[in-house]
Amino acid sequence: MTKNKRKVIYEGKAKILYQGTQPNTIIQYFKDDATAFNNKKFAIINGKGVLNNRISSFLMDKVKDIGIPTHFIKRINMREQLVHKVDIIPIEVVVRNIAAGSICKRFGLKEGESLPRPIVEYYYKSDELNDPLISEEHITAFDWANSNELEDIFNMSLRVNDFLLGIFSSISIKLVDFKLEYGRLFKDDNLEIILADELSPDNFRLWDNNTNKKLDKDRFREDLGDMKEAYQEVAKRLGILEN
Ligand code: TMP
Ligand code: ASP
Repeated sequence: MTKNKRKVIYEGKAKILYQGTQPNTIIQYFKDDATAFNNKKFAIINGKGVLNNRISSFLMDKVKDIGIPTHFIKRINMREQLVHKVDIIPIEVVVRNIAAGSICKRFGLKEGESLPRPIVEYYYKSDELNDPLISEEHITAFDWANSNELEDIFNMSLRVNDFLLGIFSSISIKLVDFKLEYGRLFKDDNLEIILADELSPDNFRLWDNNTNKKLDKDRFREDLGDMKEAYQEVAKRLGILEN
């Protein structure tokens, strides 16, 4: 079936969501579009979507193996994966191990400084408002999530961080920071919080252990070039791409 004939549920900056083939499922189609700074910067990076689909499928499976519930069901083809349909919680959860990006500007830190412990931050997911930094108070007061849900989100995010730190360290990559999104799934008469969206170098900062070479979307944000090659390097080291 061509992608045009299916019902589009939502089109984001890097993905298109189509109605899935089974009830309560969605097909995530990974585009080659790269955006940064809230769409101010845009490019098409041929093959990025294919790489992100592979990397995200691989990491979602791994995360599922340690008991984190995720929306991921299976990769369908080069650019698509089948996922559970969830109600997305409008929060971007950022976990940071090393100072980079906005935290440097906010607190006057030097890029590359290690942080005293992993720091979990929340941003309100709104392009219009430029994803403002928010506190737990905003999340519970505005009812974006209740305090039990937020506790689950916080604990799961730190567990994902611990686990991914190990995976990346074993392939000589520093996991500097990353962004997660969660959704609500109705299961056995209960609402469960599960990991959604994607786990890819679009949403991670990844530096080579020895050279600190950036292997993530900062190559695009900072005009460093060779973004696709960097994503390929990550996929190769994860063992999911032939040399
Ligand atoms: P930041 O330093 O710009 O706040 O970004 C922190 C991490 O979150 C970094 O790995 C990039 C990721 N991120 C997204 O995935 N989407 C976004 O919209 C933003 C602002 C950051
Ligand atoms: N994801 C956001 C955008 O596409 C911000 C970023 O990644 O820099 O604008």
